Parts: sequence; structure tokens; C-alpha cells
Amino acid sequence: MTSEKNTYFRTGIRLALPPAIISCILFGMISLPWMEHVYHSIIFGAGSGLTVFILVYLIALQNLKTKLEEIRAIIQRTPSRFANATRPPDKNASDEIQEVMIDAEWSRSTITREFQKMDETENYRKEFIGDISHELKTPIFSVQGYLETLLDGALDDPEVNQLFLTKAMKNVNRLIFLTNDLMEISRLESGELKPELSVIPLNNLIHDAIDSLQYKADQRNVKLFFEEKETNAFALADRNQIRQVLVNLIENSIKYNKPDGKVYIRTRFDEHDNSKIMVSVRDTGIGIDPDDVKRVTERFFRVDKSRSREEGGTGLGLSIVKHILESHGEQLAIESKPGSGSIFRFSLKSADHHSDLISA
Ligand SMILES: Nc1ncnc2c1ncn2[C@@H]1O[C@H](COP(=O)(O)OP(=O)(O)OP(=O)(O)O)[C@@H](O)[C@H]1O
Ligand SMILES: [Mg+2]
Repeated sequence: MTSEKNTYFRTGIRLALPPAIISCILFGMISLPWMEHVYHSIIFGAGSGLTVFILVYLIALQNLKTKLEEIRAIIQRTPSRFANATRPPDKNASDEIQEVMIDAEWSRSTITREFQKMDETENYRKEFIGDISHELKTPIFSVQGYLETLLDGALDDPEVNQLFLTKAMKNVNRLIFLTNDLMEISRLESGELKPELSVIPLNNLIHDAIDSLQYKADQRNVKLFFEEKETNAFALADRNQIRQVLVNLIENSIKYNKPDGKVYIRTRFDEHDNSKIMVSVRDTGIGIDPDDVKRVTERFFRVDKSRSREEGGTGLGLSIVKHILESHGEQLAIESKPGSGSIFRFSLKSADHHSDLISA
């Protein structure tokens, strides 16, 4: 009720005005036969009206004002997780009762939003648990199958023994990767894993990512090329997270490449916006269908499940990439031509203006 522009109690005026006008007319008319002049009756009527006005206003002020203020204070305590859920200004409220109504409406919409958010979280949780159990089942049942066969007698044959234990181990490794990725994605999706920004020498980081994947590329006879155009590319980003983005993208371009395929990694300053560094990973691989391009960043989505599984993939890599880039305020752009190859692009903020912080 502490409206800055209206310090008087507007509801009191609204309540007091009608009875004041009625008593003014009524007492004026009743007094007519007893008064010498008409204007005496007018003064008497006006006096009665004013008295009634003051009485009703004071009674309303005493009884209503504090109660309305209390109701408003209760409404304003509506809990909200939304940062921008501050109450809208009640510019158009004609009196304190309408201010309370506006507050009640604001509170209702805030609570509705909170419930919607809770429903979304609950649906996300259910879906996530469903996906996880589905993904965990395959390697767990495989391990169980190999161990059961070994216990049923295959243990005596050293060759089968070795083969089955190797396969069981492969599945256990898959489970380890899967749990690590799941932990990471759930922390990213819940917003718990915030980027720790620092000035990172992008080219060093790319060399680092390439080195860690060179053996995989060699295994498949895929050649990795780093077109190091911008030698001075320093980005303002989270070092570990961007390293992971690079590793996931380069690893995909190796995994989903053709024999003797090529991968080109490139950094350059954005032609239109010099404060951004563009990074691209292009491959001459199998490519992705246009319909699937839209879906590859979805959690657990794989174009060819069996091929991806064979490679030890869980369909979380690009989803992690997308979340990391979004937490940096950036987007992943994908262009692909089935049979010819794909290009994955993203940009990062250039740290040019932060050269004082640069450490190799
Ligand atoms: N460079 C690429 N060329 C062709 N297809 C790709 C490429 N990158 C990703 N894909 C397709 O997108 C799917 C999702 O990729 P993502 O990296 O999320 O999962 P993954 O590689 O299968 O598993 P993970 O990365 O979790 O080990 C892949 O299964 C593959 O079908
Ligand atoms: Mg991947």
C-alpha cells in the first residue's frame, strides 16, 4: 500500500464518497422545512456529508488499510526460483484493493510457472532414468552372459576364456565411459557445471586434442590436418570444457570417416565480428542425413546404433558439446552431406582484450 505517488488511502475515499453524497442530499432535503433560507439547508447537507465522509474514511483507514497491507505482504512472499519474478509495478491500480488483486494475479502466474517448471523437471528426470537404464542394460547383460558361459564350463578352454574375459572387459569399460558421460551431462543439464573462464591458447589446445586422438586416426588410416591460420588465437573460455568439445568433435570425425579419410581443423577470426574466433572440424566421412542432423545433439541419439556401439559410442558426445557451448553462450552449427562428409562449427569469444592474462 505504500504507493509513492499516492500517500492517501484511496480505498477509504471510494468507500466514503457514496454515503457522504447520499447524506448530503438527504440531510439537506430533510432540513429544508426548518431552515429560513435554502442555502442554510445546503450548508447543513454539506456539513452532514463531510461528517459522514470523514467518519467512514477513518473507520475504513483503521480497519482496512493494515489488513490489505498484510494480505499484500503475504502475497509478495510467494516463493519463486525465477530471478525475474519480481512483482510488476501497479501503475494502473485505481486503489489499494486493485493493487492487492494485481499482486494476487502475479502470485497465481508465478505459482503456475513454478508448477510447469516442476512438471518439466519431473518429465526430464523420468526420461533420463528411462534412457540410462536402457543404455546400462546392454553392457551389463553382455558381461553377465560372458561370465555365465565361463562359469558353465567354458573356463576350461583357455582360448574361450581369454576371448570372453576380453569381451567382458570391453563392456565394463563401456560402462565406465557411460557413467562418466552421464555424470557430466546431468551436471551440465542441471546447470551445476559452470564454465570457469580463462584466457586459453586455442591452437595449443587443438594440438593437444589432436595428439590425444592421433593413435585412433592412425588405426583407421585417417589423416588429421590442422590449418593453423590464426597463430595468435586466444579465447576466453573454460579450458577443460573446450578441450572436451574439440576431442568429441575430432573423435567423431575419425570414427564416422571412411578409410583413408581426412579431417581438417581450422581456426580463424570471424569476418563480421572480430571479437569472435571460429573453430571448424570438417571431415570427408559418411555424412549425416538432413533429418538426422537436427537430432544428433539429442541425448543418446545415434544415426546407426550398431556402428556407434561398435565404436564404443553412447550418443552423448554431441549432447555434451552442445551443452558446453551453450553454457559459453555459443551454438554448434552442423552442415553435412551424406556420403561426402560433415562440418561442425562453433565460435568462441576472442581474448584479445585480455592479453594481460595470457599464460602459455
Ligand atoms: N562427423 C560425423 N560424421 C557422421 N556422423 C556423425 C558425425 N558425428 C556424429 N555423427 C552421428 O551422430 C551421432 C551422435 O554423435 P555423438 O558424438 O553424440 O555420439 P557417439 O559418437 O555415438 O557416442 P559418444 O560420443 O557418446 O561416444 C553418432 O552416433 C553418429 O551417428
Ligand atoms: Mg561421439
